[in-house]
Amino acid sequence: METLQWFPGHMKKAERLIQENLKLVDLVIELLDARIPLSSQNPMLREIIQGKPRLIVLNKADLAANVDVWLKKFREIAPTVAVDAVKGTGIKNLIAQAKLLAEAKTHKLAKHGAKPRAARAMIVGIPNVGKSSLINRLAGMNHVKIENRPGVTRAKQWIKIADGLDLLDTPGILYPKFDDADVALKLSWTYAISDEIHDLEPTVCKLLETLAAKFPDGLIERYKIQISTDGHELLNQIGLKRGCIRKGGVVDTDKALRLVLSEFRAGKLGKVTLD
Ligand code: G4P
Repeated sequence: METLQWFPGHMKKAERLIQENLKLVDLVIELLDARIPLSSQNPMLREIIQGKPRLIVLNKADLAANVDVWLKKFREIAPTVAVDAVKGTGIKNLIAQAKLLAEAKTHKLAKHGAKPRAARAMIVGIPNVGKSSLINRLAGMNHVKIENRPGVTRAKQWIKIADGLDLLDTPGILYPKFDDADVALKLSWTYAISDEIHDLEPTVCKLLETLAAKFPDGLIERYKIQISTDGHELLNQIGLKRGCIRKGGVVDTDKALRLVLSEFRAGKLGKVTLD
């Protein structure tokens, strides 16, 4: 897992890189986290991609609850599919939808006498949403043929995914929305924002309070604790149950909160939807 720290300069650079690559593709595959499909959107994406066809992909669907509800909502905006990039669930549908979206463009080119060519796509998304996992998964489906094709400033690497679909091998990294405190919390829980840049204790206590209110079964099953509305109290109970104890018998808060975070992120506290 790796997340980035963002500064205005980084944001501008990331935008510029995407805009450069955008000229080479017929469609953009926007990766969202199915657990926080609204909070994992980038506020500037529409403006950045300037009307380019967009396929929305709800990734980490294996960790998410109510995926069907979100699919329905998002499909009112753009074609949307749900996938698990690690196991490969939903990937065939993703490829089919991507080709379909690019058809308008490739047909138009063919009509004007150009040699028929594969649809070209690029993946964009915030840190840790699963861009590399998806690229690897797509690349692994075929005997990958990577080829160089002249780009705007330097040769770009393309991965042949399927008959009729090529993917740019470097994804566009979008910055997340961290100006909204509620959104920033959700991005921290799912590790789109690094643990190093904020105070973990209130973040994890708030996570526990949210889970206790919305998805208590996962907490009860995993830790055999009494549900409470107080995050500190929940963390304390978990520390005691799981042996996160310091000398003198007091709960090692830091150890307990790291345990909760890592188990939550691995899906061990059940499927959730947090937006
Ligand atoms: P990025 O390129 O967008 O930054 O994300 P990346 O693919 O590196 O994925 C970030 C983490 O999310 C990885 O976990 C990856 O395994 C996990 N992940 C990606 N897609 C899915 C998915 O559909 N379902 C689940 N459950 N997990 C997913 P990690 O712990 O950082 O790495 P690893 O030890 O699992 O490789």
